[in-house]
Amino acid sequence: MKKITQTLAAAALTGATLLSASANAFWGSDDDTLKLGYLVKQPEEPWFQTEWNFAEKAGKDYGFEVIKMAVPDGEKTLNAIDTLAASGAKGFVICTPDPKLGPAIMAKANSYDMKVITVDDQFLNAKGQPMTNVPLVMMAASEIGYRQGSELYQEMTKRGWDAKTTGVMAITADELDTARRRVDGAVKALTESGFPAAQIYRVPTKSNDIPGALDAANSLLVQYPDVKHWLVVGMNDNTVLGGIRATEGQGFAASEVIGIGINGVDAVNELAKSQATGFYGSLLPSPDVHGYKSIESLYKWVKEDVQPQKFVEVTDVVLITRDNYKAELQKKGL
Ligand code: GLA
Repeated sequence: MKKITQTLAAAALTGATLLSASANAFWGSDDDTLKLGYLVKQPEEPWFQTEWNFAEKAGKDYGFEVIKMAVPDGEKTLNAIDTLAASGAKGFVICTPDPKLGPAIMAKANSYDMKVITVDDQFLNAKGQPMTNVPLVMMAASEIGYRQGSELYQEMTKRGWDAKTTGVMAITADELDTARRRVDGAVKALTESGFPAAQIYRVPTKSNDIPGALDAANSLLVQYPDVKHWLVVGMNDNTVLGGIRATEGQGFAASEVIGIGINGVDAVNELAKSQATGFYGSLLPSPDVHGYKSIESLYKWVKEDVQPQKFVEVTDVVLITRDNYKAELQKKGL
């Protein structure tokens, strides 16, 4: 009898310990749980929300806690690093709001002995050159842009438009390397396909969101009143959506405009509309891979001292349209 009581007491104790350990992991209050940050410039974009979700999936798989933070500007970024340090985080993944913050971010991270992996947008040093020594996970910008241009040309041909009366509206954000490479890729594909270079019109956006792109597109449209059909190029879905909204505002029917975005996950609401718009489709890369891989390699770096790859370029991309977007997103578990 005594033996049984002892065994029961031991079991109860073990149970209690286990319970409190898992409660701590759940509430994130266990000081032994490794904490890693995931900082993004534009948390309102489903792109970054998807990265966050998959970073958390990695956290569950490996048993670390992900501290998600929005860093829309430089001040918030530097403050976020202080907050992370105070909470005991050992490193962070970041998509910076401004590549030129690279040196300041690294100086602060180094002062706390935190490891850093960049995602999507590469840091620039004081001379404006890419900081290639900081690990980076990003999409194959030129190639995906090239695909955008090819798909636009193909769809234009399918609709039987005359190139003479068609214009390309290329909304640019050249200060962001990935944006410049995507748009240049698209323009290259269009000209290589035979689209007249003189009818490719570039206009810079002041901000990387729909209102910024809408303003830029409006100012461009009024300059070319003779153009009958528009192809819309931009570095991501919101940029292209701004262009599309401008064509609608200036009286173009959906059938007279073809826009193809990049990101895919940011285009879902548009593709789900009951009536087709000028937004024909979007190239869906792999935000799931960006989110998971970046923090997985940070974890292995912190925990096992495995040096991360300096550059991981994610090339997978699929064109989603109103016809296939549900199935394609589902295939990727998005
Ligand atoms: C940049 C863009 C985002 C997204 C990522 C993907 O950061 O601003 O919208 O396209 O690149 O790498």
